[in-house]
Amino acid sequence: MKITIIGSGYVGLTTGTCLAELGNNVTCLDIDQNKIDSLNNGKIPIYEPGLKELLERNMLAKRILFTTNPREAIESSDVIFLCVGTPQNEIGKANLEYIFSAAKTIAENMNCYKIIATKSTVPVGTANKIKEIIKNNTTHEFSVVSNPEFLREGAAIKDFMNPNRVIIGVEDKKAEEVLVKIYKGVERINQPIIITDIKSAELIKYAANAMLATRISFMNQLSHLCEKTGADIKTIAKGIGLDKRIGPKFLQAGIGYGGSCFPKDVRALINTLKENNCEADLFEAVDNTNNRQKSSIIPKITNIFGGNIENKKIAVWGLAFKPKTDDIREAPSIIIIKELQRLGAKIKAYDPVAKENAEKILPGIEFGETPYDTIHECDCLVIVTEWNEFRYLDKTKIKTLMNQHNIVDGRNIYNPKEMKEKGFNYICIGR
Ligand code: UGA
Repeated sequence: MKITIIGSGYVGLTTGTCLAELGNNVTCLDIDQNKIDSLNNGKIPIYEPGLKELLERNMLAKRILFTTNPREAIESSDVIFLCVGTPQNEIGKANLEYIFSAAKTIAENMNCYKIIATKSTVPVGTANKIKEIIKNNTTHEFSVVSNPEFLREGAAIKDFMNPNRVIIGVEDKKAEEVLVKIYKGVERINQPIIITDIKSAELIKYAANAMLATRISFMNQLSHLCEKTGADIKTIAKGIGLDKRIGPKFLQAGIGYGGSCFPKDVRALINTLKENNCEADLFEAVDNTNNRQKSSIIPKITNIFGGNIENKKIAVWGLAFKPKTDDIREAPSIIIIKELQRLGAKIKAYDPVAKENAEKILPGIEFGETPYDTIHECDCLVIVTEWNEFRYLDKTKIKTLMNQHNIVDGRNIYNPKEMKEKGFNYICIGR
C-alpha cells in the first residue's frame, strides 16, 4: 500500500515507521524543511526507544522517505494519515489550524480518489469540517476516516505493533476495507479492530485519555487523606486494583500527570462539552486536582527547612514528564523547579535524556552528569520522574554524598520503612 503521513512529529514518525516496517511504501510530508533534512540524514528529532533502529532499517530498504513537497507526497499515495499536532489554544480548546491547512493541501494536490484518515486527536465533529474543506477545493472523490492513535510515548512502537484495539471510524465500505487491510497484522495477533461511526471514533480517543486522567486525579486526591490519616495509597491501589472491575493500571499517585496529551485532551473535552451545553464539572475537577498536585510537593520540601529554602541546595532527579521519553511538555518538573528557584533554592538536576529540552526552558539550573554527582553536598533530593535507574542505587553512597539526608519522592519509588531505617528523612506521596 502507498501511504502518506502528514506531520513528522512523535505520532507521525512512529506511525510512518511502523507502517513501513509492515511492508508499505511510506512518504512522510512535513512543512519543516530542517526537520525533513535531518530525517533524511538519519537524525531523529525525538527520543523514542527502538525508533532509530526501525527507521534506519526501513530507510535502507527505501520503504520510507521524507519530503516537504506536497504534490509528490499526495499524488503517490492511496491513503493519507493526518498526524499533525492539535495543541491547545489560550482557552484550552484544540487548535485545529494545522489539521485544516493539511486538509486544504491534500485537496489542492489530489489527482484521484484518496482516503484521508485522521490520527491526530480532534474534537468530535472535526471529520465533517475536514470533508467540507476538501470538497470545496477539489473535484476528485475521497473518503474521510477517523483512526485515533493510542500510542504511549516511550512504548510507542510496541503499542503500534501490538495495540489493545484499533478504532476505525468510517462511513463507506471501500475505505473500511482499505483501512482493515492496513491493520491486518493486528488482526493476525488476535487484537480487535473496531469499526464505528466517525463521531464515536473521534470521541473514543478523548474518552480513553480522560478516563485514565480521572483515575490518576482520583488517586492523587485520595493520597491527601492517606497522609492525614496514616493510610497508605499504594496499599489502597493494590486493594482496589485487584477488583477485576477496576483493574490495577493508572492508579499510581504521584505529582500529577503531564505530557502533550492528558492535560490538553482533558481541557479540550471540557471545551467540547461546554460548547454543546453539557456539564463539564467532573473533568474540570480532574484538571484542577492535577494542577494542584503538581505544586503540592513544594510545602513538603519547604517544611523540612522551617519554611525557608533560600540558598538551600536542592537536587532534582528526573525532568521528563515520565520515564523513557525526553518530552518535558507539561512536566511537573517545570512547575516544581521554577517555584523552588523563586523561593531562593539552588537547583542541580539530572535526567538521562531530557536535559537538552529542559535547558531551553529552565534557565539558572546546574545539570549533573549522573544521579550520584547531582546529589553531591545537597540539602534535599527531590525525585520527579521514576526512571528505573533511580530505583536500585546504593543508598549508603547516596547518604554519604548528601549534605542533609532529606528525600522528597514525588513518585513513591522507595520503601518508606527501609528508607527510615537507613536514616533518611524520606517523604513521599500518600504514605
Ligand atoms: C497517553 C495515553 O496513555 C496514550 O494511550 C495516548 O495515545 C497518548 O496519551 C496520546 O493521546 O497521544 P502518554 O501521554 O505518552 O500517553 O503517557 P502515559 O503513559 O499515559 O502517562 C501520562 C501521564 O500520567 C504521565 O505524566 C504519567 O507520569 C502519569 N501517570 C500515569 C500517573 O501519574 N500515574 C499512573 O498510574 C499512570
